Amino acid sequence: MGSILLTGGAGYIGSHTAVELLRRAYHIIILDNFSNSMRSVIDRVCRTAALSETDAKSRVSLVEADLLDKAALAEAFASSPGVDVVIHFAGLKAVGESVEKPWAYYHNNLVGTLNLLGAMNAAGVSRLVFSSSATVYRADNPVPYYEGYALGSTNPYGWTKFMIEQIIRDICAANEGLSAVLLRYFNPIGAHPDGLIGEDPKGIPNNLLPYVAKVAAGELDEIRIFGDDYDTPDGTGVRDYIHVMDLAEGHASAMEYLQDRKGCCAFNLGTGRGTSVRELIRAFETACGKRLPSKVVGRRAGDLPVVYANVDLAAKVLGFTASRGIEEMCDDAWRWQQYRAAMPGNTEDQEDNSTPS
Ligand code: NAD
Ligand code: WQD
Repeated sequence: MGSILLTGGAGYIGSHTAVELLRRAYHIIILDNFSNSMRSVIDRVCRTAALSETDAKSRVSLVEADLLDKAALAEAFASSPGVDVVIHFAGLKAVGESVEKPWAYYHNNLVGTLNLLGAMNAAGVSRLVFSSSATVYRADNPVPYYEGYALGSTNPYGWTKFMIEQIIRDICAANEGLSAVLLRYFNPIGAHPDGLIGEDPKGIPNNLLPYVAKVAAGELDEIRIFGDDYDTPDGTGVRDYIHVMDLAEGHASAMEYLQDRKGCCAFNLGTGRGTSVRELIRAFETACGKRLPSKVVGRRAGDLPVVYANVDLAAKVLGFTASRGIEEMCDDAWRWQQYRAAMPGNTEDQEDNSTPS
């Protein structure tokens, strides 16, 4: 097999998938504009994958480019012959920010994807794995979420995923030489157990786990629990958290499945199990060895009480089942949080990466 191009490969999920692909002996090309990631991640990916200097040079390439720049994309494919599959992670991903800056989200995510599909077509690259999200399921579906459920969204970020899925499905159906897998992630958390790579949100995190990790590290004062009056066992919201290394393995399985398949297929990547906010906090307290201050505040607008996946299709068709539990997710996230806090050059992400509104 040729090489695998990872758009957004320097980001949270892309970097972990890169490590897993290197472990499976693939050659990878990371294409990123570093709008939400650090350049130093490439070196940390190579170290995590235990590559020698020679191996790192021959098996990992970096292309610093923006998907919005068509010429740079064409050049990326021209200078990297033998790309066999593209895994498309690149995109803006914060739900709240997308409500404040819809143009930036539609522009970056939609135009970026259309440019990528055009460049792939021109370069004769016919296989695509796309980072979709559980957010594409309409909110009135009962849990667990099945791949065949009705789709929709409630925010611009979610609509970009919904629209991109549709664009990819239409191109595959028109038989224009594209085959694709759409991966609908539930709630990815955790980090590689070696602790050199992990999630690195800029500013105050919106998501629960990175927020809890920053409270544990003393960078934030207390956890805000968004409602404890839901109809759930302890009243707090329930989600399907999946370890990012399980997610990475899911990508490798999807990509291998795509080798001899045509068409377009969507798969949930989750564990099929729900964990409440309080359960997650307790697991993190065990991981970091201390009690964490928290207070219950009002419900967050738009939150659902319970979201988890039906994972039968990925198990049956891709042969993929997530194996890591909440404890492992929290242990690994805490190890990364400590490394991140002490990391030399951790001011690199202070660059101005603002997007136009
Ligand atoms: P991330 O922000 O850490 O990684 C995305 C990467 O894409 C970053 O390195 C960023 O610099 C790059 N990027 C963004 N726009 C670009 C552009 N125009 N050109 C080139 N590079 C660009 O995010 P992540 O958590 O790793 O998520 C990866 C993908 O998975 C995203 O598409 C996201 O929407 C999707 N997803 C994430 C989650 C989650 O909870 N993290 C859940 C569901 C789906
Ligand atoms: C989890 C639970 C909150 C923060 C989001 C996106 C989704 C996907 C993953 C990209 C909920 C509660 C949270 C906090 C809290 N991303 N919470 N205090 O909302 O399930 O999913 O990220 O595709 O599209 O919507 O994840 O981590 O924000 O929330 O109590 O400070 O934690 O109410 O029950 P969510 P989350």
